[in-house]
Amino acid sequence: MAKTYHIITFGCQMNERDSETLAGMLEADGFVKTEKKEKADVVILNTCSVRENADKKFFGVLGQLKHPKEDDPTKTVCVCGCMMQQQHVIDTLKQKYPWVDLVFGTHNISDFPKLLHGVRETNSKVVEVWEDGRAIAEGLPAAREFPFKAFVNIMYGCNNFCTYCIVPYTRGRERSRRPEDILAEVKQLAASGCKEITLLGQNVNSYGKVKHGEGSYCYLEEPEGQQVDFAKLLRMVDEVEGIERIRFMTSHPKDLSDDLIEAFRDCKHLCHAFHLPVQSGSDAILKKMNRHYDRERYFERVEKLREACPDIALSTDIIVGFPGETEEDFMQTMDLVRRVRYDSAFTFLYSVRRGTPAAGMEEQVPEAVKHERFNRLVELVHEIQEEKAVEYQDKVLPVLIEGFSKTDKTMLTGRTESGKTVDLPGSADLIGQIVPVRITKAQTFSCYGEVAE
Ligand code: SAH
Ligand code: SF4
Ligand code: F3S
Repeated sequence: MAKTYHIITFGCQMNERDSETLAGMLEADGFVKTEKKEKADVVILNTCSVRENADKKFFGVLGQLKHPKEDDPTKTVCVCGCMMQQQHVIDTLKQKYPWVDLVFGTHNISDFPKLLHGVRETNSKVVEVWEDGRAIAEGLPAAREFPFKAFVNIMYGCNNFCTYCIVPYTRGRERSRRPEDILAEVKQLAASGCKEITLLGQNVNSYGKVKHGEGSYCYLEEPEGQQVDFAKLLRMVDEVEGIERIRFMTSHPKDLSDDLIEAFRDCKHLCHAFHLPVQSGSDAILKKMNRHYDRERYFERVEKLREACPDIALSTDIIVGFPGETEEDFMQTMDLVRRVRYDSAFTFLYSVRRGTPAAGMEEQVPEAVKHERFNRLVELVHEIQEEKAVEYQDKVLPVLIEGFSKTDKTMLTGRTESGKTVDLPGSADLIGQIVPVRITKAQTFSCYGEVAE
């Protein structure tokens, strides 16, 4: 009987994409996927460390694997991802979680098959984590989750060192894939029927920048010798036949160029949706966060985006309770949200990350104050979302049908270009297609609709 695997992924789209690579490598080795982690011959926990909650969730799930491993010692428990790039996590695993067999990091995923063989053949335990990225490994297999939409990495790592953030430590320095490798992947996806791609990077706006000696940068060149920055890359991807929707994540406001804004005017397949994390509306806090823009610059970029693309849906990330945040600072964030009127916002309580500059800052905001501000912010975001939802009523919009609704298995579910979820009646043959849908009931977080004739 074939050996089985099960992967649990925490964290962002980067991790989801990495898990598809891990699954692809296992399937190339003859493993088949199983839905039960307790029963699988190989279990992988791909971890995230962006907030304390993510760490806690991981240790909780890992705890559930203790007995299954004791019952079946031939089972292999693997842990990887962002948490593993931190020595204190490795130390805790060694002391308290002896049922872990294999530990690897974010930089040596391509070595996973070799490491797994070693562990399974010799029944030994292995910890192999690299401190930083080496050459980008191309051509790895991938077992993609959906045939009709796909994540495509365009770069890895982050150089920004926002003072609250662990990512630069867990993902290393910025490295961009070559444009020809990205295009080859997108073309291959299109040929296999994929309709929507999301280009991934921690800061896609600095795609293609290559360090060229101390302090100076140049851009990657394609084989024809043209320099390729992110806006240029989008234009190249826009030309790929068969790709009907292009999205990207994530964009840093400091590097949002006029060229990129122009791309929204010109690119036929670029979704009119933009995720532009602001983090705070207070200049003093933005400075302490090391974000390199102020609220005026942010407003100016948003205005320009809306001029170029009036129906663009804007979303953001906001951190509440960064060290030193006063009530006035927080009111500035509330004011910014009122002015920008986001279509959606991911709101987070500031979480202390060991080893980051903000962890050592004085004036940590008390938990009760953080929660109280957080609730006010969420209420405001929802109020605006509710008001904006009305705009969807009775509209006919293209919707990519993604599958059956999780809450009602008799209904299909899909997404508009803006990212809004729409549930509608219909048959399974529509899954993977982009169809015109009339919105019959627009609600704050999702809509109901029917296929328009
Ligand atoms: N590269 C992306 C964000 C990656 S992390 C960007 O810069 O936009 C995703 C989000 O998690 C961030 O935008 C931020 O809002 C949040 N985040 C990161 N570190 C955090 C921390 N220590 N506490 C709370 N939220 C945090
Ligand atoms: Fe973290 Fe800032 Fe880099 Fe985003 S840009 S990953 S928030 S350090
Ligand atoms: Fe988490 Fe790592 Fe992504 S810390 S948010 S999984 S880059």
